[in-house]
Amino acid sequence: MVNLINSLLYLASSEEDALRSNKVSLRKIAMDLVKSHLAPGRMVVLEDGLPVIAAGDSGKIETAVSNLIDNSVKYTREGGKITIRVGKTDCYGTVEVTDDGIGIPPEDLPHVFERFYRSDKARSRSTGGAGIGLSIVKSVVEAHGGRVEAESTPNVRTTFRIYLPLASTAG
Ligand SMILES: Nc1ncnc2c1ncn2[C@@H]1O[C@H](COP(=O)(O)OP(=O)(O)OP(=O)(O)O)[C@@H](O)[C@H]1O
Ligand SMILES: [Mg+2]
Repeated sequence: MVNLINSLLYLASSEEDALRSNKVSLRKIAMDLVKSHLAPGRMVVLEDGLPVIAAGDSGKIETAVSNLIDNSVKYTREGGKITIRVGKTDCYGTVEVTDDGIGIPPEDLPHVFERFYRSDKARSRSTGGAGIGLSIVKSVVEAHGGRVEAESTPNVRTTFRIYLPLASTAG
């Protein structure tokens, strides 16, 4: 099992140069994922914003953002709201996924990116999952030269934010 997961994480990464040769619209990825996550009793909203073009592998970035949305869906009660924001800083494009679900206690937050780590085992068991989604997210963004952050106030607001290097505007 551990070997299998290590191979998956390796596939999620791969060479940075090769990864960063393509231009990827983060807004387009977010729009597509909002559509594919629509379901009755669930509110998934993409906030307005400008197009943001990152350098990377669109399939892998889509996998990363999709994992964040899947978590928000899984850890938010029915009728909850999930908000996606696409933006940028000086050098990075950002995708932020916020939910108003159960959240993550402060003592668990530093560990959620570890392989197989799941907050509150008893509760988590009923939602299923292996605890690898966020390791894949971390592996993908770091392979792109980016990073991922998390903030949570349990039962109020939980935000995961990924940073991906912007594509150069030249050429
Ligand atoms: N949006 C969120 N709200 C509350 N808890 C979260 C959220 N995202 C992640 N977590 C916590 O972090 C843990 C690790 O998340 P991760 O995506 O790696 O695993 P998983 O969702 O449990 O399983 P898998 O993604 O492999 O199906 C989760 O088990 C959950 O406890
Ligand atoms: Mg997950």
